[in-house]
Amino acid sequence: MDPAAARRILEQERARGLDLIGRAASLEDLEAAKVAVLGRKAPFSEVQRSLGSFGNADRRDLGTATNEVREALGAAIEDRRAELERHAEAGLLSADGVDVTLPGRGPRPGSLHPLTIVERQMVEVFTRMGYRVAEGPEIEDEWHNFEALNIPPDHPARTMKDSLYIDIPGMLLRTETSAVQIRTMESQPPPVYVVAPGRVYRREAVDASHLFVFHQLECLAVDEGLSLADLKGTLEAFAHEMFGPDVRARITPDYFPFVEPGAQMAVSCFVCGGRGCRVCGNGWLEQGGAGMVHPKVLENCGYDSERYTGFAFGLGIERVAMVRHGVNDMRLFVEGDVRFLEQFEGVA
Ligand code: DAH
Repeated sequence: MDPAAARRILEQERARGLDLIGRAASLEDLEAAKVAVLGRKAPFSEVQRSLGSFGNADRRDLGTATNEVREALGAAIEDRRAELERHAEAGLLSADGVDVTLPGRGPRPGSLHPLTIVERQMVEVFTRMGYRVAEGPEIEDEWHNFEALNIPPDHPARTMKDSLYIDIPGMLLRTETSAVQIRTMESQPPPVYVVAPGRVYRREAVDASHLFVFHQLECLAVDEGLSLADLKGTLEAFAHEMFGPDVRARITPDYFPFVEPGAQMAVSCFVCGGRGCRVCGNGWLEQGGAGMVHPKVLENCGYDSERYTGFAFGLGIERVAMVRHGVNDMRLFVEGDVRFLEQFEGVA
């Protein structure tokens, strides 16, 4: 190699080296570039090895030039290395990063069960009229569930056919919220104005309009001078609040052991206005049983039946909910299907 060729190679290698180093996209690339431009087999190293064969003047000049090129390339490699290391760190940080400004992924809020919504609305109608909420246990004894309600031991409601007894003799799952009437009167003197919403149980074959567990809202009023007119007026006030001001209430004779007279309550269908339609059939929607509290029931609780009279009724909460929300199958209330339940989001 002659000095002119050595000079040319040095210039070429500086340019090629700076380009390779600049284009190294990773620390591995950079290492390869370093070997390619300054390694033992690189053209630069050949120039270095030939220095000894040149004359004094050329050796000095080319020696200086060689050192410059090595330093320039070495400095470029170090700069590029620092840059790549900074990038690698920033990449790790952003991969690990948490963007604290993003909105959080909170749990989806649930909503009240449709029966809870309707029960609360029903209770509210009565509490606004001055009623208080009473409660009783779901596992009841025969006294509160039957005897005190004037349901004698030979009554069909007492047999295993209708009732769900538990292993403790004389105890059963309450078949009606009417049991709370007794517990309330036993615990306080008259006057009484209470509503008792709650779950009741019966041995039923399940279909679109029967479940073995359902809900009632019991109402009991005992005072001096209460009459059937008060019962009807109360029922009508309830119907107006729940179903609208044009709805009429109807009571027709029926039999329940704990009332005399006993009645069946219905409200005019608010869909067809009482003419008869797919929802109601004959224009009326049955809401439950009612009546004037039987004197025997008052006496069973220690009340003076000469001085006090009362009325009572039991509304089916599922029935009210089905009518209010156009639900055509009672089983939907217990199946827990979110496609049904989420339709009530934001209703209450
Ligand atoms: N307990 C009755 C039932 O479950 C409904 C009922 C009828 C409740 C007459 C009453 C009433 O308070 O007076 O079918």
